[in-house]
Amino acid sequence: MSASVAVRVPAKVNVQLAVGAARPDGFHDLANVFLAVGLYDEVTVTPAEELRVTCEGPDADQVPLDRTNLAARAAIVLAERHGIDPAVHLHIAKDIPVAGGMAGGSADGAGALLACDALWGTNASREELLDICAELGSDVPFSLVGGAALGTGRGEKLRALDVGGDFHWVFAMAERGLSTPAVFREFDRLGEGTHIPEPVASEPLLDALAKGDPDALAAAVSNDLQPAALSLFPELADTLAAGRAAGALTALVSGSGPTTAFLARDPESAVKVAETLRSSGTCRAVRTASGPAPGATVLSA
Ligand code: C5P
Repeated sequence: MSASVAVRVPAKVNVQLAVGAARPDGFHDLANVFLAVGLYDEVTVTPAEELRVTCEGPDADQVPLDRTNLAARAAIVLAERHGIDPAVHLHIAKDIPVAGGMAGGSADGAGALLACDALWGTNASREELLDICAELGSDVPFSLVGGAALGTGRGEKLRALDVGGDFHWVFAMAERGLSTPAVFREFDRLGEGTHIPEPVASEPLLDALAKGDPDALAAAVSNDLQPAALSLFPELADTLAAGRAAGALTALVSGSGPTTAFLARDPESAVKVAETLRSSGTCRAVRTASGPAPGATVLSA
């Protein structure tokens, strides 16, 4: 058995997030177009006396280190299925914002799953890994596969999408996080008494991705959770406006937020938008990253 295994996992931005009405189980059907971007968490798993989780990084103090952490849950679920004692130390080097709408927790779940599979030699099939990911959370399967994909159902049923080039993004991290369930609840509250259509993927958006055309993508992006995120966190409107004024092709809330995402035409203009946002006083931190990025990848075994 090797001493430790490290896995790198990307963040995501949703270039389309179409949300249907609440289902009887409380979840919402989605047409969710994920794009993985080059901001990564790294999960390292090492044999230990008992299961424990540690975390380093600027947001590390906000990460739960108990069994509610998706990395711990991933290890437990894989171990249970294969009759293994999940006695491992999971260390998360966290670069993806916490509670930011960029699937940071999901990334850690997918990363821990792949790392434990390699450490224990369980050789789970891709299908089994995806199945466990879906059990862990709606966005976890995408963290495993990366690239670009259309997620339907509650977001866990994935179809890989063609992407014809790199897209250059700027991400503005907010002063505080937002709870995904709270944002969905606000979506329900704002939609009360209105007809909420079935979520459908946008053909112009899928075309823009396939062509690698940033102007066409900018014209087609949408996020049905954005009004709910803005309702809970009104200051995000200032960040969006600052990025637009700085020359971003488009500005939107990433997933359930509160991270805001700005599409730039090329890497140079991404750097300019990032500099302007940094000095705008409307956010905590700013990063550039491009996508598509590869999914969870074993770095060493
Ligand atoms: O699947 P996951 O555990 O990541 O979802 C977190 C929460 O987000 C759910 O408990 C639910 O409140 C909300 N959600 C939803 N519809 C989805 C995905 C998530 O309502 N399709």
